[in-house]
Amino acid sequence: MTELPTVELHIHIEGTLEPELIFRLAERNGIELPYGDIEELRRHYEFIDLQSFLDLYYSNMAVLRTADDFADMTRAYLTRAAAAGVRHAEIMMDPQAHLSRGIPLATSVGAVAEVLAKSESEFGVSTELIAAFLRDRPAEEALAVLDELLEMEVPIIGIGLDSAERDNPPRNFVALYERARQAGLKCVAHAGEEGPPDYIREALDLLAVDRIDHGIRCMEDEELVERLVAEQVPLTVCPLSNVRLRAVDTLPEHPLPQMLQRGLNVSVNSDDPAYFGGYMDENFRQVRAAFGFSSAQLADLAANSVRSAFLTDTRRRELL
Ligand code: ADE
Ligand code: ZN
Repeated sequence: MTELPTVELHIHIEGTLEPELIFRLAERNGIELPYGDIEELRRHYEFIDLQSFLDLYYSNMAVLRTADDFADMTRAYLTRAAAAGVRHAEIMMDPQAHLSRGIPLATSVGAVAEVLAKSESEFGVSTELIAAFLRDRPAEEALAVLDELLEMEVPIIGIGLDSAERDNPPRNFVALYERARQAGLKCVAHAGEEGPPDYIREALDLLAVDRIDHGIRCMEDEELVERLVAEQVPLTVCPLSNVRLRAVDTLPEHPLPQMLQRGLNVSVNSDDPAYFGGYMDENFRQVRAAFGFSSAQLADLAANSVRSAFLTDTRRRELL
């Protein structure tokens, strides 16, 4: 089947690390994994909440040591994304998760950026890179890492905020977002995935974000929904992720149809496809099956992604 051409706005490059590649990199780097084989590793892919996923996500990153490891992971994603019909991707990565393991930014971010620089010519996928900061680590550390990234002049288009949301509110990162904005960067933040609707408000009011990653819990707050509709704030929704992390019980109970119906600017994204059972094509296939979306509704979702992307006018016209 020819896939619907799509734009992906919410994807963590470390969340594309497939079990097969984890084993290959472990062998290459002489790392002993705590799993005998791929099947045993896969048995750990049952999550009860965001934290239970994050524990495995960070522990699997131990196999990423050299620039080649980061480059191989990035190329594997671009190959898979192109096959899924992705034409443009705005990719987050977690520099602190590597720095804290002793991997310099030049190795991790440098290698990913180098592959992305050629993604359009080599894979037919234009890309942008977003440096995401870990909200469960100190805000001072995030500021220092941002300063180092700015000094290195790595081509990042913006910053994000991810990791454990509960009890780590956006208000802790006001200085980080001010510095990013002063440097001309775009701003996004995870909010309202597990955290309360007020975190979405904080991300808008205190961090002045251009997009909210997830945002599904806005549906618990009518006044917030009205504001998000009026301001057409992009919400990068990740349906399969929300089911696997139990933000919703089942896909048919996901609020995506109601969000679209209310006129919210929602898009469909894969988040961490190696962990949640599917890339963009599978997310679209499953929401289509669960909700029976018409071609017009699917086109609305795709158009929302294009208009919410950090694109030049020329590239935006090409993608519409
Ligand atoms: N890091 C990677 N995936 C994430 C998610 N779904 N929520 C928060 N942080 C993440
Ligand atoms: Zn995410």
